[in-house]
Amino acid sequence: MFKLLSIVCLAAFVVAEIKEEENVLVLGTDNFEEALSLYPDILVEFYAPWCGHCKSLAPEYAKAATKLQEEGSKLKLAKVDATVESELAQKYGVRGYPTLKFFHDGKDSEYNGPRQAEGIVSWLKKKTGFPATKLADVEAAQKFVADREVAVIGFFESEESDEAKAFLDAVRAFDDIEFGFATDKAVAGEYKASGNKVILLKKFDEGRADFEGDFAKDKLVEFVKGNSLPLLIEFNQQSAQRIFSGELKNHLLIFMSKEAENFNKVNESTRELAKGYKNKLLFVFVNTDVEENSRITEFFGLQKEDFPAVRLISLADQLVKYKPDVAELNPEKLKVFVDDYLAGKLKPHLNTQDVPADWDKAPVKVLVGKNFDEVALDKTKDVLVEFYAPWCGHCKKLVPIYDELAEKLADRKDIVIAKMDSTANELEHTKIESFPTIKLYKKGDNQVVDYNGERTLEGMLKFIESGGEVGKAAPEDEEEEDLEKEDADEKPVKDEL
Ligand SMILES: *[C@@H]1O[C@H](CO)[C@@H](O)[C@H](O)[C@H]1NC(C)=O
Repeated sequence: MFKLLSIVCLAAFVVAEIKEEENVLVLGTDNFEEALSLYPDILVEFYAPWCGHCKSLAPEYAKAATKLQEEGSKLKLAKVDATVESELAQKYGVRGYPTLKFFHDGKDSEYNGPRQAEGIVSWLKKKTGFPATKLADVEAAQKFVADREVAVIGFFESEESDEAKAFLDAVRAFDDIEFGFATDKAVAGEYKASGNKVILLKKFDEGRADFEGDFAKDKLVEFVKGNSLPLLIEFNQQSAQRIFSGELKNHLLIFMSKEAENFNKVNESTRELAKGYKNKLLFVFVNTDVEENSRITEFFGLQKEDFPAVRLISLADQLVKYKPDVAELNPEKLKVFVDDYLAGKLKPHLNTQDVPADWDKAPVKVLVGKNFDEVALDKTKDVLVEFYAPWCGHCKKLVPIYDELAEKLADRKDIVIAKMDSTANELEHTKIESFPTIKLYKKGDNQVVDYNGERTLEGMLKFIESGGEVGKAAPEDEEEEDLEKEDADEKPVKDEL
């Protein structure tokens, strides 16, 4: 009795300890765990005080918290200043601001829901209420299935069973798939389901997949994820988000024309192959006849004559590309390629053009992947390199200034002014984040200094003459905000992937 009492008192004490601002809990390392144990369902925003998106979310967030509070809901909203609570931010993998995480019984998942008060509230209610559609009779079930590309139904003898609970937990892990729930015998009979059973019905590929195995949340989530996407997904504006922001970070892309004589054969054999790699690798088809797809083909450095082509990408930390030795789309060879990749046996593929015959004729030298190190890392010279994209407006504006700079310094034997088309050439040691990027590779020790001054003749001259001192990198903490400015430099296509 005494023990129970002290726990109750302790809980009351802890509640009083957590500060609230407009009904939003203010959390840090010292009270985070306590908040999680007091509130089984809690949405946490990791923010930075200077971040623009965070500022616009704040009033909506407070409104949602207040609404829930007024309704007497158990749902809670909280915030963490990630610039102060860096330990917490790191623990939960916060990379950008704001990052929202939903905690259910202490377990976190990414929140990608709406950013408006109403939307936040209804998202939370769906997540914490009964998350599936109850299918009372055969007619309701048939309609539920007919209306959806993908429908998952759980059949259970009782709503209270452990199996049903595991299923409902799995359901809460999804935002974009709808789930049905049936306890009616006639509904189960209609779908040939006996006992506790989960099936996935889809309007493509094999049409139906039956869950086999133990009813555990993770197993069920894996089953739904592995079976709800087409075996071979066509890349387009709608699917891009699902493909590239999904959890599967390994993608095999096939670039070919849908008009190609062997398209149906390739489609068939690739889908067959893909069956063996569910939850390991996504198979993506890029139709090279579609004009909009030229950005993605360009990103891979592919030209018309290269099609059909295959590339494999890993999006884990940064984007890494792999290229099979074989050009043909032979399923056996593709399988070997994929298996080698998964076994970690492949070396990344870097795009490069051939060195142009006249690369050093003009004042601005032309670098490509193949000659970059030889020229830029020449220890006897200061080498200034502009990394550009042919489509980038800021780069075009820079051309006359950069040419003038090179002409001015043409007599200097110890200085090289160079440029590289970064859409067609990649370097293992340098990843370009925006266009144009200007770097100085210093003589002597090959130290690399970024130029962040104004892109004027005087500015760049001073930068070179000072050995990279005048106009070098701006302080890091200003960078993130820069990306939100309208005049921010243009980003390579990989950021859109
Ligand atoms: C591949 O074939 C299937 C079955 O005919 C079809 O549903 C699917 O749309 C095809 N895939 C593509 C990318 O066209």
